[in-house]
Amino acid sequence: MSTAGTATQLNLSDPELKLLQTLVYQECGMYFDSRRTPFLQDRVQRRLRECRLDSFYSYYRLLISNEGRQELANLLENLTVNETSFFRNKAQLELFHKNILETLIRRKQQQRRHTLRIWSAGCSTGQEPYTIAMLVADAFAGRMLWNPSGYECVFPKPLVPAPWSVEILASDISYGALRAAQEGIYSEHHMSPVDSSYRFRHFDKVGDRYVVKKALREMIHFDFHNLKTEYLPQRNDVIFCRNVMMYFDEAEQKRLVEKFFRCLNAGGYLLVGHAESLLGLTDKFTMIYRDAGTAYQRIEEDA
Ligand SMILES: C[S@@+](CC[C@H](N)C(=O)[O-])C[C@H]1O[C@@H](n2cnc3c(N)ncnc32)[C@H](O)[C@@H]1O
Repeated sequence: MSTAGTATQLNLSDPELKLLQTLVYQECGMYFDSRRTPFLQDRVQRRLRECRLDSFYSYYRLLISNEGRQELANLLENLTVNETSFFRNKAQLELFHKNILETLIRRKQQQRRHTLRIWSAGCSTGQEPYTIAMLVADAFAGRMLWNPSGYECVFPKPLVPAPWSVEILASDISYGALRAAQEGIYSEHHMSPVDSSYRFRHFDKVGDRYVVKKALREMIHFDFHNLKTEYLPQRNDVIFCRNVMMYFDEAEQKRLVEKFFRCLNAGGYLLVGHAESLLGLTDKFTMIYRDAGTAYQRIEEDA
């Protein structure tokens, strides 16, 4: 059975593919339709080589065994698409910055509840949550500039002034992506969407790399969460789940949107990817559209 070092080309039969598709779908919600089966084949092939197995069934038995939990995690890790970038979908971020954040800060200030909770669900290698943190810091810097007497004068100026507390949770199913996100080290290529003022304020240049400064990193808490599971982080004001649902089928997208509804505070916001929409998935959100940026807001029954 074991063929260490061999590179057997394995073409999965349709029933084998079906077994694997079902297992992956049940575990993480990702759905591999016929367009994406070559990718699935390729990744399984790689894992088989790593595990030094040459038959699909011995690999599948491993995946569904108790001892195979780690290998299942490895397989899922290999199946995720981690493409991301800083300041992705600028129009939507503009809407978040100028409209959603301002509204939330004003609303909470009136209620004297100085906390904001933002969740980047499917954060990949961190560019999304760091972008969110930079925009939140900008929003508070703007407020301190216009109303300096409203804030304590401390040095160095914190990114989020007292009495405010901002928690940005960044989660993913890929441990590799989470590790990179937590490290917060990026190449010049990654940094191309980041303008010089953000680079200067929030990154240290170390050799040819950019390292996220401690103050920005400390605004974010990184954690593993599988969006397929029922238990997900609650009481969020905003959820970013961008370019994740597109890998799920419609039934799983509907379940996820329902979960997000419950994970949001009243009047909270959900931001999905440029190519994604809640159309046909739910009637519990209303769409906000400004200057090509789109977001969804929870509808409250007495609103
Ligand atoms: C294409 S990236 C998107 C990253 C970022 N949100 C953006 O828009 O730039 C998709 C991310 O979703 C994660 N993902 C896929 N399925 C997931 C699941 N079931 N639970 C949590 N994260 C998942 C992947 O690991 C990957 O990092």
